[in-house]
Amino acid sequence: MARFDPAAIRAQFPILATGPDGKRVHYLDNAASAQMPQAVLDAVIRFETTQRANVHRGVHRLAEAATNAYDGARAAVARYLGVTPDGIVFTSGTTAAINTVAHALGETLSAGDEIVISELEHHGNIVPWQMLAQRRGLVLRALPVTAEGTIDLTALDRVVTKKCRLIALAHASNVTGAVLDPAPVAAAARAMGARVLLDGAQRIPHGPLDLLALGCDFYAFSGHKMFAPHGIGVLWGRPDLLAALPPFLGGGGMIEQVTLERTTYATPPRRFEAGTPPIGAAIGLAAAVDWIAGLDWQAATEHEKRLTGRILDGLSAITGAHVIGPTGLQGRLGVVSVVLDGAHPHDVSQILDTHNVACRGGHHCAQPLHARFGVNGSTRASLAPYNGDDDVDAFLAGLADAAARLR
Ligand code: ALA
Repeated sequence: MARFDPAAIRAQFPILATGPDGKRVHYLDNAASAQMPQAVLDAVIRFETTQRANVHRGVHRLAEAATNAYDGARAAVARYLGVTPDGIVFTSGTTAAINTVAHALGETLSAGDEIVISELEHHGNIVPWQMLAQRRGLVLRALPVTAEGTIDLTALDRVVTKKCRLIALAHASNVTGAVLDPAPVAAAARAMGARVLLDGAQRIPHGPLDLLALGCDFYAFSGHKMFAPHGIGVLWGRPDLLAALPPFLGGGGMIEQVTLERTTYATPPRRFEAGTPPIGAAIGLAAAVDWIAGLDWQAATEHEKRLTGRILDGLSAITGAHVIGPTGLQGRLGVVSVVLDGAHPHDVSQILDTHNVACRGGHHCAQPLHARFGVNGSTRASLAPYNGDDDVDAFLAGLADAAARLR
C-alpha cells in the first residue's frame, strides 16, 4: 500500500500553505476547529454566487435552487451517516443540538427524574443539563473518570438508576482523546427505559461511523470540526423520537398552521429548524462529507495512530510533562493534552506559537475534567489527516523549549 501522504492532503487546504505572517503554520488545533479544503470553499462560493436565496419560502427560481441545494445537503449528510434525512436536524453546532434535546426532551421530564453525564464532558454537554435540572427539578448525576482519562463504565450500575431518563456522554473526549464504547451505555439505558445522547463533536472528524450501530437515540456534532464552515451542526435523532417531541425554538419555518390563538408544528426535521437556517454552511457541510468520504480512512487512521504514538513517545522524554489521558494507542484519537509542571498552559501555547505551532492551551471547556486531575488546564495537540511528521517535530521541539524556559 502506498504511504499515506499528508502533504498531498494539505495542498488542498489554502490556509495551510501560508499562515498569517506568510510562514506555514503547524496547525494542531483541529479539535477546536479544523480547516476547510478548497472543495468546501468552492461549494460555499458556488452557492453564494449562483444560488443564494432563502429556503422553503420563495417560489422564484433562485429560491427553488437554494431549497434544492439545502435539502440536498441534508440528504448528503444522511447518506454519509447511513440514516434517513428526516432524522437530520441542522443546528448551529453541537451545543445548539444538545440544547435542542435539553429543551424538547426536557419538556417531557418531571421533578425527580435523573440525567446522567460524566466528569469528562465538554461544558456544552454539562451546562444545558444543569440548566434543565434547575428548571424542572431534575437530578444530575455524573459517571467518574479513570486515571487513564476514560469514562469509568464500571460505575454504570451504581449511577444509572430506575429514575434515569437520559444518559448524555461524549463519544470521544476533547481533552483526553479517549473514545467511548457506547454498547454498555446503551444497554444500561435500555434496562432503565432511558435514552442515550452522544456528543460526537470530537469523534466525527476521525472517519466514517456506523451511527445506527452505536445504539444511541440522539447524536450531536459540529461542521467546523469536520472541515466545514462554522455555524452549522447536526442533531440526529431517531425519527420516531423526534416526531414525539415538542419544538424548542418557535418561529418561521417550523410551523404547519399559525393563527393568533395557536400554532401547529411541522414534522421533523423542520419542527426543530425555526428561522432562516445556515444555508451556505449546510451546503459546505455536504461538500465536507463528500470530501471526507473520498479519503482512505484505513490509511488515515493508521497515520493518525503513528503520529499520536510519536507525540506520546516524545512527551515521555520531556522532563515534567504529563499526559492527561490514555498513554497507549488503544481506544483513543489523536487528541493529546499535556501538563507541564510549573507552567501555565497559556504560556506554553504562546511559546509554541513562536515555533509556528497552533495548539489550544487552557481548560478546553472541560473544567470538571481538569479539576479531576488537580490542574487548571493543559496544552492540547489535536491531529487531522493533513498533519505530518514535521508538525509533530515542531510541537515536540516547541514543548521542550517551553519546558526549559518555564520550569
Ligand atoms: N470544543 C472545542 C474544543 O474542544 C472548541 O476546543
